[in-house]
Amino acid sequence: MDFQFKSLAAEKEHVGVVFCDSKNRLLGFAKKLDQISKKCISSVINSDTSFQKRKSKSFDYAIVHSPANLKISKLYVFKLGDYSKFSIRDFQILGGNLFSLISFYQEDKVGIYPDGIISKDVSAINSVSEIILGSLLASYKFDKYKTVNKKEEKSLKIKIYSAIHSRIENNYLSVLAVSEGVSMTRNLVTEPPNVMTPPEIAKNAASLSKYGVEVTVLGEKEMTKLGMGSLISVGRGSEYESKLAIMKWTGHKNKKKKPIAFVGKGVSFDTGGVSLKPANGMQEMKYDMGGAGVVVGLMKTLAMRKAKVNVIGVVGLVENHIGNMATRPSDVVTSYSGQTIEVLNTDAEGRLVLADALFYTQEQYKPEFMVNLATLTGAIVVALGNEYAGLFSNNDKLSKQLEEAGKIEDEKLWRFPLHKNYDKMINSPIADMQNIGTGHPGSITAAQFLQRFVNNTPWAHLDIAGTTWTKSLMPTSPKGSTAFGVKLLNRFVNKYYEGK
Ligand code: BES
Ligand code: ZN
Ligand code: ZN
Repeated sequence: MDFQFKSLAAEKEHVGVVFCDSKNRLLGFAKKLDQISKKCISSVINSDTSFQKRKSKSFDYAIVHSPANLKISKLYVFKLGDYSKFSIRDFQILGGNLFSLISFYQEDKVGIYPDGIISKDVSAINSVSEIILGSLLASYKFDKYKTVNKKEEKSLKIKIYSAIHSRIENNYLSVLAVSEGVSMTRNLVTEPPNVMTPPEIAKNAASLSKYGVEVTVLGEKEMTKLGMGSLISVGRGSEYESKLAIMKWTGHKNKKKKPIAFVGKGVSFDTGGVSLKPANGMQEMKYDMGGAGVVVGLMKTLAMRKAKVNVIGVVGLVENHIGNMATRPSDVVTSYSGQTIEVLNTDAEGRLVLADALFYTQEQYKPEFMVNLATLTGAIVVALGNEYAGLFSNNDKLSKQLEEAGKIEDEKLWRFPLHKNYDKMINSPIADMQNIGTGHPGSITAAQFLQRFVNNTPWAHLDIAGTTWTKSLMPTSPKGSTAFGVKLLNRFVNKYYEGK
C-alpha cells in the first residue's frame, strides 16, 4: 500500500471515499463535491432508505456511480456514528474498515477525503494519521510459503486529499514506523520454528543496525563464561545455539541519560522439554517468542521514527527442546545473579530465560526501569482470556502509565498483585528457589520468580500468553500474530518518556 498526500481537489481518475454523519449529512469536501455534481451524491444517499436507517459505528456505506460533473467513476460514502467522540482507537478501526472495503471491491487507486471527521479528543492531523495506521495494520499478510493459489494483488495506491496534507505527510514517517515495527513482529512470530530459530531471531535483531541501532549478540560460550546457567539450561536439548541479543537506541540529546529497557522472552519453540507438552495444541508454541518479537519490532519503530529517548532492548533466545543433554526435572542451575534454581518442571522455562536477561539488563545498563514481555503462563489465559494481558509490577507509577497507554491503543492490561506470601511459594528445599510454585496462582508465582531477578529496579512484567495470537480476525489485525505490545509501548514511550 502506498500513500500520497494532495491538497483539496476533485479526484480525477479513480475511485473516491467520502464520509457522512449518522443523519446522512456529507462531511468536509464531500459537500463541495456534492455541489459540483449538482446534489447527485446527496440525492443518492437520501433516496436509499435502507442506508438512511443504518446506524452502525463505522462500517456502513453507499456507492454512488459516476456522479455528475465529476470524473470519479465510483464514490463510496462511508457513514460514521458519533465521530465527535471518536478516540484514537476509533480512527484506527475506521482505517481498518476502510481497507477491508477497498480490498473487498478490489480497488487499486483510491482518493480519500477525511477532512470534516472532527473529534473533540483527537487533533485533525492525528485523526488522519491513525486512519492511515489502521489501514496499514489491517493490510498485513503473510503468504511467502504459498506457491499455489497465491493471490496476486495489484499494489494499492491511496491519495489523501486534505487541507492539511503537508502536515499529514510530515507525520507519515512516524505512522509508517509503527506499521513497519508491527509487521516485523508479526513476521518474526508467524515464521515457522524451523526457520525462525534463536540464531535467526538474533540475525533479525542485528538487521536493525541499518536504522542506527547498535546490536550485540552473545552466544553460548560467552553466556556460559558470564555464568548465565539459568538461560543456558533451557536450550540444552536443542540443536540451535541459544543467544542473547542486545539492541541499543540512543535518541535522547543527552547520550549519557539513563536508558529505559525492554526485555523479551524468545523461546523459538516450546516443546516443554523433558516435561513434554501434550501433542494437542503444541504447534501453537511457535509463538512462544512473542515477547522477543515485540521487543525487536518496537526497537525498529523507535529507531525508524528517531524517538528522542535512550532505549535498551534485550531478548533471550532459546529453543526448549528434548535431547540427550536436555535439562531434567530436579536439576539445579546457577543463575547469572548467583541465585540457584531447582528446575522442577522444564516447561516453566520462560522465567529461566528472563531471570538471566533481566538481571543482566539491570546490572549492565542501570535503566530507569525495565518492562519485560513474555508468553509466560497458560494460567493468564484462564484468568483473562484473549482480551487483556496480565500486568505485574513493583511500581505504581510505571503500572499506571502502561495501563493508560494500553487503553489508548486498545492493548489492554490488567494488574495482578505481588505479595511476600506468594513469593514464599517458590522457595525450594534444596536451592534458593524452584521454578514452579506450590499453590494455584500460576501467573503470580511466575511473576514472583521474575521479581527475584530485578534487584529493586522499577519493573513491570506483561504476561501476553493470551494476546500474542488471535484465532479470529480483528479490526486492525488479521488472524495470527497480533504484535500486541508494539503499539502500546510505542505510545507509552512517546507519551511519558520522549524528550524528557
Ligand atoms: N509458553 C508456555 C505458556 C503459554 C501457554 C504460552 C499457553 C501461550 C499459551 C510456558 O512456557 C509454559 O509452558 N508454562 C507452564 C508453566 C507451568 C509448568 C508451571 C504453563 O503455563 O502451563
Ligand atoms: Zn513452557
Ligand atoms: Zn514457554
